[in-house]
Amino acid sequence: MTSEMKERLLKRAREAQQNAYAPYSKFRVGAAILLDSGEIFSGCNVENASYGLTNCAERSAIFAAVSALGGNKVQLKAVAVVNDQDAPCSPCGACRQVIAEFGRDAVIWYQGRSAVQESTIRDLLPECFSL
Ligand code: THU
Repeated sequence: MTSEMKERLLKRAREAQQNAYAPYSKFRVGAAILLDSGEIFSGCNVENASYGLTNCAERSAIFAAVSALGGNKVQLKAVAVVNDQDAPCSPCGACRQVIAEFGRDAVIWYQGRSAVQESTIRDLLPECFSL
């Protein structure tokens, strides 16, 4: 994966972050995903007064791609996640499972302690559940 692609995805994630709906946590998150096809989709976190209904940015982006293309055409190559506080923020457990569903070899870029970190879904979610 090129550093140009990494920067492109991070830029799309930052743009999506602008649309975050996070009145409760005030923690605004954006994500962008790169598919095998080269297409890029993005999403933001969408919170709810019933807190548990909140959708994370990563899942918003993946669900947007599935909604647009159909699940069989969604093969994740990479995921980028950013937040408005430059706080360490790797994908949550639920999002890791959803990322694994659509990209067993996906590369993940996320804000670490002081810089953007690179990992893979294999490292972030070993032994993922599958049927
Ligand atoms: N959140 C994400 O969108 N992605 C993550 O990787 C971690 C957390 C959101 C969910 C909630 O709206 C807010 O951040 C605080 O947990």
